[in-house]
Amino acid sequence: MRHLLKRIPILFAAAGAVILIGWKVDAEPNRTTMPELAGLVHYTTIRRGEVTEHIMTTNEAIQAVKNGQPIPEGTHFVLVDYRDGEIYRTFVMEKGRGWGDDYDETRRTGDWQFQWFKPDGSVNMAENTARCQSCHSSRADQDFLYTLDDLKAFDGAVID
Ligand code: HEC
Repeated sequence: MRHLLKRIPILFAAAGAVILIGWKVDAEPNRTTMPELAGLVHYTTIRRGEVTEHIMTTNEAIQAVKNGQPIPEGTHFVLVDYRDGEIYRTFVMEKGRGWGDDYDETRRTGDWQFQWFKPDGSVNMAENTARCQSCHSSRADQDFLYTLDDLKAFDGAVID
């Protein structure tokens, strides 16, 4: 027991090193770009406490979903997170041909890649986008989207 206790700090140090290395590998820019928000359609709003999220995508993607077609390559989905009336952060998903190949199968979310942009447009390098993929992978049957039903119900009037 005594010598086990002595080892605990060593185990913690090793775990810390692994976490740091993992973070360095994953927190790198990927292919996701920040789109021009003015060109997107705001189709739903989610409010939670102080957070207001405007969710938007391209008109082409909305038409494709409504026609039961695959979401086109090059599509952006954007979640603009407002706090106190200002943009706090912007989450982006973008789909591109073969982009899923950048990740191994356990992490892959179709051909979607994810990114967290700061209000100045730079990438939040402290985020590991594997986290985004891990959560959104539970929506694999809805093209990795959480608000696909809202999109289907969207009739052209901004839902506030
Ligand atoms: C713990 C689960 C979870 C994680 C982690 C997560 N998301 Fe989401 N995401 C959601 C949920 C739930 C929604 C629906 C909006 C809401 O309820 O706030 C959503 C919505 C979105 C949307 C709008 C399109 C859609 O799916 O409806 C984008 C874009 C998005 N997330 C990007 C990201 C990015 C980028 C990251 C990582 C930086 C991320 N998400 C991490 C759960 C998650």
